[in-house]
Amino acid sequence: MNHELLNHFNNFFNGATPECPNCVEIQFLPRERDILTRDPEHVKAVLTTQFADFGKGEEFHELWRPFLGDSIFTTDGQLWHDSRSMIRPMFIKDRVSDLATFERWVSVLLTALPPSGQTVDIMDLFYRMTLDVTTDFLLGASVDSLRNPKGEFVEAFNDVQRIQMMLTTVGPFRSLISRRAYNEGIRKIEQFIMPYIEQAMALPQEELEKLSNSDKHFTFLHSIARYTRNRQVLRDQIIAVLLAGRDTTAATLSWAFYELSHYPEKYGRLRDEILNSVGRTRTPTYEDLKNMSYLRHTLNETLRLYPAVPFNIRSALEDTTLPSTPGNPPIAVVKGDVVVYSTLSMHRRKDLYPPISEKFEDPAIFSPERWENWTPKPWQYLPFNGGPRICVGQNFAMTEMAYCMVRILQKYERIEYRGNWYAQQIETEIVGKPKQGVKVALYEESARTVGNLEPFTI
Ligand code: HEM
Repeated sequence: MNHELLNHFNNFFNGATPECPNCVEIQFLPRERDILTRDPEHVKAVLTTQFADFGKGEEFHELWRPFLGDSIFTTDGQLWHDSRSMIRPMFIKDRVSDLATFERWVSVLLTALPPSGQTVDIMDLFYRMTLDVTTDFLLGASVDSLRNPKGEFVEAFNDVQRIQMMLTTVGPFRSLISRRAYNEGIRKIEQFIMPYIEQAMALPQEELEKLSNSDKHFTFLHSIARYTRNRQVLRDQIIAVLLAGRDTTAATLSWAFYELSHYPEKYGRLRDEILNSVGRTRTPTYEDLKNMSYLRHTLNETLRLYPAVPFNIRSALEDTTLPSTPGNPPIAVVKGDVVVYSTLSMHRRKDLYPPISEKFEDPAIFSPERWENWTPKPWQYLPFNGGPRICVGQNFAMTEMAYCMVRILQKYERIEYRGNWYAQQIETEIVGKPKQGVKVALYEESARTVGNLEPFTI
């Protein structure tokens, strides 16, 4: 509630024993044993080597059902497996490398930015842009929230997420929370989505197959409608991917600009790479984006310090164990126990990094440069999760964020922070975002400067 998640978790770890310094047992709720961990070996066990022993669990499924139904997010076992098979084809490289949807909405974002030097909360614009991109990708029609910020859908989506998270965290007290805005919000989200589902249902199977060969008009909805004609299934998967795709990318872009606004030389270096690669006006291709190493390092570094999903939860579906440090017995985990693993806490563990040197800044500091000589050890860097449930939208997200950054940095030569940079906090609902927004001023190049840098001009 005080936006001190990292300190809160660290306080628990401060009470850990020397034999098991990165894992503690806590009792948040009566009759529920929680195990909080920031140990990569535990995360690996939960997400891959003992995958079948852990899952979202039935309680989570039931609690989230009104919002996300039986979608990829809320289910385990066969139901989850079927969802994943249905969704995956839309995230193969050939689909993700079509950048037209990103260009459409990033160009609206550029027009929504104020004139040079005026203050803007760029986080607000990123949240709206990623909602527009994701609804366009899913349905072929966007809620157009960049141009209509006060739209019903945006409010409904925010309300439902907020209340859903509250219901999840208050445990036995959830009956005290009013569900009026929650139910009303879900109704409004459905009102927006259902007409598109009806349109897709009206298309015969051959028409859907034909559409799948066209890049322009084929949507995520068309793709999953080839597998099922069940309206409820379509609705559930669409809302789940909307939830997965919107806040995560918006929050990461916001943190990237928050950090870059504090380091003008890093902003300048990134801009140089972009201008050398695509100039001031050309739209980048998928290959351009892949080839810009400083851009990739900037995003990796942002996700290291601010993994969009700062902690996650799995229930033990069977009696099982977690691995221990050498010489100690494994940790007993009983069916129903909840393992809370925090990538935020794990990524901030100093002991997992090489010593500070000229080539490796203090891990507490934003330094894309560190990625030039260093690769994290497996399971120590996990912004997208790992194992069979690794984020299916990882490539989509990285491409969208890289594309957006390139287009903004092409246009603006300088950025200035316009809030109290040091007072920022991580506000965590499902996703961890900058509590105070990201108030910045962006400066376009003057015509004279552009003239002086002629080699880059197209
Ligand atoms: C910076 C951006 C993103 C980050 C950091 C991120 C991170 C994650 C994480 C940590 C999970 C695991 C959740 C869990 O198992 O409880 C996940 C799952 C998922 N993500 Fe992402 N995500 C991002 C963007 C996206 C985008 C853009 C999409 C789709 C458009 C997407 C779709 C999904 C889906 C469908 C799952 C569920 C996978 C499964 O359970 O099998 N994500 N993501």
